[in-house]
Amino acid sequence: MTMNIIKVKNYDEMSKKASELVVNQIKNNPSSILGLATGSTPEGLYLELIKKYNNGEVSFKDVTSFNLDEYVGLAPDHDQSYNYYMNEKLFNHVDIDKNKTHLPNGIAEDLQQEVEQYEQKIAEAGGIDLQILGIGTNGHIGFNEPGTPFTSRTHVVELDESTREANSRFFASIDDVPTHAISSGIATIMNSKQIVLLVSGKSKAEALHRLINGDISEDFPASVLKNHPNVTIIADEEAFSA
Ligand code: PGA
Repeated sequence: MTMNIIKVKNYDEMSKKASELVVNQIKNNPSSILGLATGSTPEGLYLELIKKYNNGEVSFKDVTSFNLDEYVGLAPDHDQSYNYYMNEKLFNHVDIDKNKTHLPNGIAEDLQQEVEQYEQKIAEAGGIDLQILGIGTNGHIGFNEPGTPFTSRTHVVELDESTREANSRFFASIDDVPTHAISSGIATIMNSKQIVLLVSGKSKAEALHRLINGDISEDFPASVLKNHPNVTIIADEEAFSA
């Protein structure tokens, strides 16, 4: 197993450590292509990046970003869309050029064309240098739910009930949680040169335990990361409690 594991005390330390890796990446290559994630896990990372930007430690002006996923049916200005999340949590607070930030369009008329174009744009940019990932309690990465082929490219996915339940905390009710999303595929994620997986809290402990100790299987999408040459897991004590 080639995964590099960094054990930290808590969520804040995880976020700080992750921000150091991102800032180093940008210092080494100011035109880096970053793969970004949404959800609760990377919020602290984005806060740290904003702090470091405000302190003059980093500039995003030549950075390009591609997000992992977006809900189907939510317009970019919907307050639960991932487009909105990225603007609120990071892009509006740093000097990134919005023309260089990319998320799938969840309201594209032709979703098949949208996923193909998204995949193509990543390829044209030269591929992702550093991909930030979270993990679902079911082992999903991006919105690639259990059973997704490891060969998958950016695609439309049907969300697991468990994922819709987990994310219903952000919506008025579970009925408002979209049933589908556009997600970078597993092969798309695996093409990234470097991957940083963030894991925090007891709710992720079983998933982390299975990732570290279990087999590589499409039943548990994150397990594919064991086949990648440059993965760093940053996980806190609670995440190691299983
Ligand atoms: P979370 O989601 O960061 O909101 O826990 C992670 C994921 O589902 O990948």
